[in-house]
Amino acid sequence: MQKTVVNSWNEWDPLKHVIVGRADDCHIPPEEPALDAKVPEDSDMRGQWGRRPQETIDRANELLDNFASILESRGIRVDRPTPIDHSKPAMTPDFRTESQFGCMPPRDVLLTVGSEMLEATMSYRCRWFEYLNYRPLMQQYFEHDPNFRHESAPKPRLTDADYHPDYLSDKIGVEKRLKWTAEKFFVTTEEEPLFDAADVLRFGRDLVVQHGFTTNLKGIEWLRRHFPDHRVHTVNFPGDPYPIHIDATFTPLRPGLILNNPQRRLPEEQRKMYRDNDWEIVDAAQPAHNTPPPLCYSSTWLSMNVLVLDPKTVCVEKSEVYQAEQMDKLGMEVVEVELRDAYAFGGGLHCCTADVFREGTCEDYFP
Ligand code: ARG
Repeated sequence: MQKTVVNSWNEWDPLKHVIVGRADDCHIPPEEPALDAKVPEDSDMRGQWGRRPQETIDRANELLDNFASILESRGIRVDRPTPIDHSKPAMTPDFRTESQFGCMPPRDVLLTVGSEMLEATMSYRCRWFEYLNYRPLMQQYFEHDPNFRHESAPKPRLTDADYHPDYLSDKIGVEKRLKWTAEKFFVTTEEEPLFDAADVLRFGRDLVVQHGFTTNLKGIEWLRRHFPDHRVHTVNFPGDPYPIHIDATFTPLRPGLILNNPQRRLPEEQRKMYRDNDWEIVDAAQPAHNTPPPLCYSSTWLSMNVLVLDPKTVCVEKSEVYQAEQMDKLGMEVVEVELRDAYAFGGGLHCCTADVFREGTCEDYFP
């Protein structure tokens, strides 16, 4: 039996133990405020819900299993969630929605900071119970690692007071969305703290958090109070009409180097800490595809949703040839991983994983 230790302080130190999601029983959930705001206006998903077609589930699982094997062949230990029945409604005294989402992608739910794994509040009703898919693993880590801290952020009520009704129309138009994003007017209100784990990037002592649809300012304030030894920075990306989850927008590769989505550039006034410490922020290469695959929430920018295995090695989706080429030029060894047919289940190579152990300690990269 291998020793279990939970420890991960950033997105790039050598990865030794990771969770890879599963596509089992994944559903397209019924309409609800925050989810609707995110479904692209021209999406083939609008107006339909239910279990995803079995052949797409099987194909996504094939790819995820294969990704897990690639990681294992490189000496990385891989754990998998235990799917709950996602066809069951999610119901609390405050809301009811007819189905859940799935156990992809774990990055959205679990935030690892040092020896702690924190279950995010989440901001969609259909994802309120998603942490249950990971509880068997949390129990195992708790048993085997005497220093593991299993934490859960306060479960939000997710009543209608959490969502701006202006976002409920399905014909807002991209122009208005961009204006709202620039004004930081998002679908979620400041009723109570809300955050998804995938809005957070870890840079040792610094946590960089995207303010957008799935994380509000109170959520960021909650994180600040919860991690008193960290500096928590709020960022936003005005070029993104559907701002959720930072990992197809801003991607650190190693100390001193970050890829930024050229359509969603970090505003000048938010760049000071990187500039002052000689970090370079470079435009990510263009995606290889013009459109996302069918029934997909995400944009084509999952091209930059890479998983860094160590500061010299990175997993890039196999069809993303421009992204791979850029990595090569940046001096990274590229591990090609086929995953595009699993994108529809909630994301790419970074999304579909959650860190358990990376070597290294908490460093201050922005002294
Ligand atoms: N907002 C991103 C995009 O569509 C997708 C991010 C997915 N990330 C995740 N952790 N699920 O460009």
